Order: sequence, then C-alpha cells, then structure tokens
Amino acid sequence: MTWQKSDWRAKPRVQMPDYPDAAALADVERKLSTYPLLVFAGEARQLKTDLAAAGRGEAFLLQGGDCAESFAAFNSDAIRDTFKVMLQMAMVLTFGAKVPVVKVGRMAGQFAKPRSAATETVNGVELPSYRGDIINDLDFTPAARIPDPAKMLQAYTQAAGTLNLLRAFSKGGYADVHQVHAWTLGFAEGERAAQYRDMANRIQDTLDFMAAAGFTAETNAELSTVDFYTSHEALLLEYEEALCRRDSLTGHWVAGSGHMIWIGDRTRQPDGAHVEFARGVLNPIGLKCGPSMNTDDLKRLIERLNPANEMGRLTLIARFGAGKVEEHLPRLIRTVEDEGANVVWVCDPMHGNTIKSDSGYKTRPFQSVLAEVQEFFGVHRGAGTTPGGVHFEMTGADVTECTGGVRAVTDEDLSDRYHTACDPRLNASQSLELAFLVAEELQGLREVRRAAS
Ligand code: PEP
Ligand code: CO
Repeated sequence: MTWQKSDWRAKPRVQMPDYPDAAALADVERKLSTYPLLVFAGEARQLKTDLAAAGRGEAFLLQGGDCAESFAAFNSDAIRDTFKVMLQMAMVLTFGAKVPVVKVGRMAGQFAKPRSAATETVNGVELPSYRGDIINDLDFTPAARIPDPAKMLQAYTQAAGTLNLLRAFSKGGYADVHQVHAWTLGFAEGERAAQYRDMANRIQDTLDFMAAAGFTAETNAELSTVDFYTSHEALLLEYEEALCRRDSLTGHWVAGSGHMIWIGDRTRQPDGAHVEFARGVLNPIGLKCGPSMNTDDLKRLIERLNPANEMGRLTLIARFGAGKVEEHLPRLIRTVEDEGANVVWVCDPMHGNTIKSDSGYKTRPFQSVLAEVQEFFGVHRGAGTTPGGVHFEMTGADVTECTGGVRAVTDEDLSDRYHTACDPRLNASQSLELAFLVAEELQGLREVRRAAS
C-alpha cells in the first residue's frame, strides 16, 4: 500500500479547526513529531488480538471514559476513580458472564470534539463552538474560542501523565484481584452496591480456595495485573500525524497517540480525510455507525479500513438511540454478513440518546441507555451474530449528568453536580448498574445458544 501519513491533507476535511496562525501550527507540529510515542506498536497489535477474541464471542469489550477529557479536571483522583469503576464493571462481567473483558479507556487522548453546529449563541451573542481542550477553550469569550495549536502540546503532556498513571495502576498492584473489596470503598449505597459486595465475597472465597491449592498472585501475574488500553476519536489530524511513526520491528505505521482510535459518526466520509488517515495505521480502528450510515458507505468503509478482512482490526460502534436499533442494526448486520466481513459489533448506548431536559441541561435518560443495550443484544440474538462489547461515557466521580438509575437522578438534580465539558456521563453507580445488565444479557445469550446447540 502506498500511503503517507500526510495524505489526508489532500482530502476533504470536516470538523477540524482552521488555525489562524500557520507558523505557530507548523512549529507545534514540528515539536510534537520529535516527542516520544505514547504507545508501542506491539501493544496496539495485542489489543487487535484481544478484540478479535471479542469479535468471535470469546471476550467482551468494555470501552468507556469521558466524553471529553479536560485540562481543568486533570488530577490523579479522577483517573483513579474512572479506572476503578472500569475494573469493577469488568469484574461484574467476568464473574457474572464468565467472559474475559478487554478494557479500553476513552482516556489519555480523548480531547477533540466534533460539534453539531459551528457556532453557539448565548443571549444573542454568537461565537464559534467549543471543540475540546486540545483546540480551544470552553469559556464563552471570543478569545477563548480561537483555535490555539499550543494546546496540542498540553494535551500530549496530559495524555502522557494519564497513561503513566494507568500503567502504574494496571501493573503496580492496584488492579490485583485481591483488592476486589477495597475497590468498593467510598462506593455509593444502593441495590447494586449490595450485589457488588456479594459478588466480591464470592470472589474472595474463590481466591482463598485457589491460594490453598497453590495459585497465588505471586505465581500467577493474571491475578495481580490487568491489561488496560487507551483510545480516542482521531479527529485532530495534525496531532495524529505528528504522533504517527513507523514501527521499527515491522516497518508498518502506527498511530502513537493511543492504542485504538476511532472515526466519529460525523467524519466517516469514505473519501474524507479521517478515513484516509485511519486506513494507513496498524492500530485497531473503531467506526461509529449512526442512523444515517447506509449500505453503500458501509461497504466502502469496510473495504477501505480493513482490506485484509482481519478480525479485530475494525470495530463497528452502533449508536442509534433507544427504539431505533431494530430499524437500523439488522440492515448493517446483513451488509456485513453479505460481504463476509470480519468486524467486532459494539453498542454505544449514549450518543443516540441525548436530549435537552426541562431544566435546560443536555442529559441522557438512563432508561434509554439500558433500553438501547437490550435492543442491541436482542437483534444479535435474532440474527445469530455476536455482540462484542459496549462503548459508553462515564466517570468515577459522583456526578448528576444522566437522569435515572437506582439512586434516581431527577431533572432537578442535574444542576447539583453537572461537570462534563461536553456530553453527559454515567456516574459510578449508573455504570455499575449498566455492567450488571450487560452481564445478565450475556448470560442469557449464552443459555439460549447452549440450548440451541
Ligand atoms: C463521541 O463519542 O463523543 C461522539 C461524538 O460520538 P459520535 O461520533 O458517535 O457522535
Ligand atoms: Co460524547
């Protein structure tokens, strides 16, 4: 394949900023292109192997984190709490559904945002939209909304610090399965908290039995460490290109900004800049599929992004909205089956369920989030295909951004702790509730398939 990491520049681009200062931009790109990669090509390949297992139904992808990471909210506790909730969710799935969980954070690079409108109007004042901390500022002033290339350097630094801590947590003892009880500390009460504690007790029993039989963390690294990967939307292509390098072992190009990158629902034009960039790197690629994804485009995208039909390379992230899955998912599944394409099917139950609440906040009813997950599983059950994972926006912090859940966040509660820089996220309690529901769906699917075989 003749592909250059700058080829995207000749293609039509959407959702990217026009930097007013070309010299400043060139300077940042030059600097960034000398900085160390954040991930190693071998790790991206390992994630592809893990995702291939999810595509075959032998593992399950759990991909979650902020809608938009922010410079202001950058601190150790926030990273730890999100990581902890992901571990708890993974434990619920591993224990409940008896399936290995591939853990991928929307972290350490999830800074650039596509927007539905180019401008935003408040009290009659119109300004360019906020596009994520790597591009401009959330403050509603003309100066704040000017794209500033220097923000790429700060984003890189924050991504490096985040990834460093994630690696320390993953391999340094925090993720040791014997900590399953400690992870519940500070955990909100509610029906699911009790269910989690009950599960933790049973895991503890199992570990005691295993230790007595000679299987301890000292002799089995699987018990004391986890693999935790990073991902983000590869939207800001100047940043991606500067961190794209040749893998010294194989000569292939790798996006060094994160293990997995995805293409958003608004930037997936088959002949556009974002698809052009993604097709040339060896990383696993996600592709968001909303209601407007048609059969022709899907065929061309599969052809472009996964010409070798490698399982694990392409993850289709369906995000239609509750009540719309049955209308859209079956035709995409048919296309994939007709093409004989190897893909990992994942459900994003967030982005099709965003509404404006009566109190004026952008929110997502938790019931709709759960409903979309159930519809996704239902369609795959009917089609005999494999649900390979879920992709969602969450935080370990106790925010009130999505309504509903066992601790019932109401419309009026939204203003209490609404901290997101972009889309509303599930809080820790809602995330855990989602994990229990997914575990039940997976268990149900397994029973149906076992009965049929
Ligand atoms: C996102 O994942 O934050 C996002 C913008 O998603 P989508 O491209 O599916 O709208
Ligand atoms: Co979002």
